[in-house]
Amino acid sequence: MTVGPVLGIETSCDETAAAVVQDRAVLSNVVASQVDLHAKYGGVVPELAARRHAERIVPVVEEALERAGLRVCDLGGVAVTCGPGLVGALAVGVAYAKALSFAARLPLVGVNHLEGHLYAAFLAHGQAPYPALALIVSGAHTDLVWMPEEGRYELLGRTRDDAAGEAFDKVARALGLGYPGGPEIDRLSREGNPEAVPLPVPLETEPGYDFSFSGLKTAVVLALRRDPPPRPADVAASFQRAAVEHLVSRTLRAARDRAPRALILTGGVAANRLLRARLRQAAGELGVPLLVPPPELCTDNAAMIAYAGARRLARGFRSSWTLDAHPNLGLSDT
Ligand code: KG4
Ligand code: ZN
Repeated sequence: MTVGPVLGIETSCDETAAAVVQDRAVLSNVVASQVDLHAKYGGVVPELAARRHAERIVPVVEEALERAGLRVCDLGGVAVTCGPGLVGALAVGVAYAKALSFAARLPLVGVNHLEGHLYAAFLAHGQAPYPALALIVSGAHTDLVWMPEEGRYELLGRTRDDAAGEAFDKVARALGLGYPGGPEIDRLSREGNPEAVPLPVPLETEPGYDFSFSGLKTAVVLALRRDPPPRPADVAASFQRAAVEHLVSRTLRAARDRAPRALILTGGVAANRLLRARLRQAAGELGVPLLVPPPELCTDNAAMIAYAGARRLARGFRSSWTLDAHPNLGLSDT
């Protein structure tokens, strides 16, 4: 069943985003970043984020419709991120989407943000062959997920402390780089020697599929206190090497144990060049395809929400007017 163009709305963190997607064509994809607002605090301030979403949501949606060349009455549905994320930020998008779909008599569908990240990969590549193994790496999550079929999720491993993106952001802050730190570390690493600063690959000798980044972050902070201090580019490259090695080795372990037919890499940290290259190499060794979105669809956007919502609508799923923001929503809850 095809549902026509779907408007996606994403306000779970610090991007006010709206997009229109029809089948796998992205008709528009507008992302209004709040980076300028939060940069001086070195991280997202929830109250400020929610207020800025409330200011920006109407013009951002209007722009998405205009760029798509459509009016509200041309839409086949409205999809909105309903969790996980910052509750006040999520509530702005959910309230707006409910009001719009109620007034325009359009079907409404709540989308799990993490499922949205997975659908960014399907938007770019089409559906995965199943079973698939997905690594979702963002500012708030580091999850290794087993997908026996579309829409079914089993969490195999997760971070015990910081998320991967959080670790990139904290190390960048220790190096005096800008926020968000992931892209800065990615850039600076090009000029550094990844072997120059010895840093431990986390949980290297531990069984299982969990992740941990806090020990690695502490090792970076201690390395920076050495006299003379190491070159920032060498620290960035060495940290990135250890973090990526950790992510790839845990994913490979799960892949060897479970024999998936595809690997999926998604979430903001999936924009990282070294991680993309190393996981592509690993997928090649396993003889399975790697589905990874282009970098602009790795970080938060509403095209992925629209597409995930469209697939749910096509399966007959509808949210009711009681749809609410769920800050701790898990992938299997939806
Ligand atoms: O998925 P996302 O946009 O938002 C959340 O759902 O959290 O992920 C944001 C995270 C930030 O921590 C940011 O530093 C990281 O993704 N990130 C990167 C890169 N681009 C963004 N980390 C490493 N390398 C990158 N190129
Ligand atoms: Zn995200």
